Amino acid sequence: MRVVFMGPPGAGKGTQAVELARRQGVPHLSLGDMLRQAAAEGSELGLRAREFMERGALVPDQVVVGLVEERLGRPDCQAGFVLDGFPRTLAQAEALERILARQGRGLDAVLNLEVDDESLVERLVGRRVCRRCGQNYHLRHRPPRRDEVCDVCGGELYQREDDREETVRRRLEVHRANSAPILGLYRAAGLLRAVDGRGGVEEVAAAVSRAVGEGAGP
Ligand code: AP5
Repeated sequence: MRVVFMGPPGAGKGTQAVELARRQGVPHLSLGDMLRQAAAEGSELGLRAREFMERGALVPDQVVVGLVEERLGRPDCQAGFVLDGFPRTLAQAEALERILARQGRGLDAVLNLEVDDESLVERLVGRRVCRRCGQNYHLRHRPPRRDEVCDVCGGELYQREDDREETVRRRLEVHRANSAPILGLYRAAGLLRAVDGRGGVEEVAAAVSRAVGEGAGP
């Protein structure tokens, strides 16, 4: 299965992409996570990317396209992948098409998670992430059992630098400015599936499952 998750910041792409990838037994490729990891390792690419991310701006296309191309070329992506947070510009969408065409394949579906702006702000401002294993929490919707401690690995929970309200609103603007042409491209190709992302995590997971035809049989 080769699937792309689209949708504004906080729509639940990461939450749902992890689960779909696990169910399908394919890798989950989150561009945000890859860039944050590069920044934490202190590589030149990572430090450059961090400047853009902290402002809520997009990292330049050539940087993210290079990362995706390298990652999709690895053997574990042969059986499929769930891409989360890529493409975010028309140039990235075109690059993805070229990369997959060179590998003799294409996408199966593009899921667009739809959620209203005020819920997105509330979700992101309340998000906490484990520093050690990356598990996601929400202070209200998905609280950890112990304050500021990860249920999975006991690591410390923190708030992402770009999850402060002002930066969240900037990220929403950037998303609005860039997403329409990409959605148009995938709609015209018959790949786009709109998924209502407003319900609880389980409810949205069921909608994602239906959108990709899981359990639908031959
Ligand atoms: P990235 O890390 O990808 O951030 P994003 O797209 O802004 O998405 P988020 O991770 O914030 O949200 P999400 O939709 O994954 O929601 P989540 O599941 O976590 O990118 C960060 C930055 O990297 C970008 O701003 C940019 O600078 C750069 N970048 C990344 N990709 C790039 C690219 N292709 N090109 C250029 N630059 C790029 O959920 C959010 C919260 O809500 C969590 O707390 C969660 O627990 C909660 N939640 C989830 N689902 C529900 C639900 N159904 N009900 C209630 N709460 C829920």
